[in-house]
Amino acid sequence: MRVTVLDHPLVAHKLSVLRDKDTSSPVFRLLVEELVTLLAYEATRDVRVEPVTIQTPVAQAQGIALTRPRPLVVPILRAGLGMLEGMTRLIPTAEVGFLGMARDDATLDIITYAERLPDDLTGRQVYVLDPMLATGGTLSEAIKFLYRRGAEQITCVCLLAAPEGLARLEKELQDSEVNVVLASVDERLDENSYIVPGLGDAGDRLYGVV
Ligand code: URA
Repeated sequence: MRVTVLDHPLVAHKLSVLRDKDTSSPVFRLLVEELVTLLAYEATRDVRVEPVTIQTPVAQAQGIALTRPRPLVVPILRAGLGMLEGMTRLIPTAEVGFLGMARDDATLDIITYAERLPDDLTGRQVYVLDPMLATGGTLSEAIKFLYRRGAEQITCVCLLAAPEGLARLEKELQDSEVNVVLASVDERLDENSYIVPGLGDAGDRLYGVV
């Protein structure tokens, strides 16, 4: 597993405003989009491309185009949805699939409650969007699910991670090629599995408490 934490003053500044409990929901949503676009720049460094010949107004030139099939972007519902616009702004021709996963409070198992993805992901390059890598339980299940479908290379774009969540991914996905691109690795998880200092409940801050 390769973890990249973006070290950039604009990322740190936007993240600071995002963390502030007094930042309103509309500003929060906008900042998440902006931050994800910055993270996506790094996360797509390995995007698959192929050479193409193009004609400029002056001469023939060599360029590159994204290889088909296009990358697949998969936001994990609900909070991952808030990251979609920021990601597709940078890579507008990507396909988008959806995965809804949540912890069953009784059994503590991760259940898949919604899924809209191609049946066959053989060889596909996939970008998973999940803002908060807390315990790592959901993300780990999502990654395993995508690999079972045939995905070949998975990059997770997250805003924050807890060291505990990263350690769990490392342990559970030992043999897999997974990249994680983040704005910050925070201190720890609290007793309710919130990231500390974190930014609170990302889904609630994006969409309100429902
Ligand atoms: N999910 C969130 O939205 N926030 C956390 O701190 C942890 C998980």
